[in-house]
Amino acid sequence: MSNANEKRQAGEAAIRYVEDGAIVGVGTGSTVAFFIDALADLKQRIQGAVSSSEQSTAQLKKLGIPVLDLNATGPLTLYVDGADECDPYKRLIKGGGAALTREKIVAAASEKFVCIIDSSKRVELLGKFPVPIEVIPMARSLIGREIVKRGGHPVWRDGVVTDNGNWIIDVHGWQIVDPAALESELNQLPGIVTVGLFARRPADVVLIGDQLMG
Ligand code: 5RP
Repeated sequence: MSNANEKRQAGEAAIRYVEDGAIVGVGTGSTVAFFIDALADLKQRIQGAVSSSEQSTAQLKKLGIPVLDLNATGPLTLYVDGADECDPYKRLIKGGGAALTREKIVAAASEKFVCIIDSSKRVELLGKFPVPIEVIPMARSLIGREIVKRGGHPVWRDGVVTDNGNWIIDVHGWQIVDPAALESELNQLPGIVTVGLFARRPADVVLIGDQLMG
């Protein structure tokens, strides 16, 4: 079961990675919401944030933190985001909040990815949490069939439209032994925008509550 206290501790602990004058990449979700709250206390010391979702953008703006365009900022030094699962190699499943595409973009643009989770997210093998995949709407059935061929059980997250106007398929039933290989394979399928496996670019640092994962 997820633990709100650990999420808050992780969000606050991530503040120690924020350097003066930084532009901070900001993820999405309830754990990140604690990070954004804490970031507001030092908003005078940073230039602003690059946001991974409309949800985080709204919170950042409400707290008076400037939201900047990634095309204008160039590379970022720091990205802070949550996860749905994290394995011992800091490989992740993300996208429970449907923000995976922009999250993967901001993570790719950042030198250091600090992942903030509660202990319920820590697993030995990725796949108990269904893997979110963002798809172009017309490709939903095609991708569903491709997933079945690969032993997964696809479930359309009916009613959810991503910030990019696309749909989400959640894949149940995968026990993912080689997440980077699966991520690469799925990335090749026409119609998939983003796979919620963050294995080719895993986190650099994982905070479970306020504890650093080894
Ligand atoms: C959103 C995500 C989130 O990081 C993930 O779902 C974890 O969320 P929370 O911190 O609310 O448990 O990937 O797309």
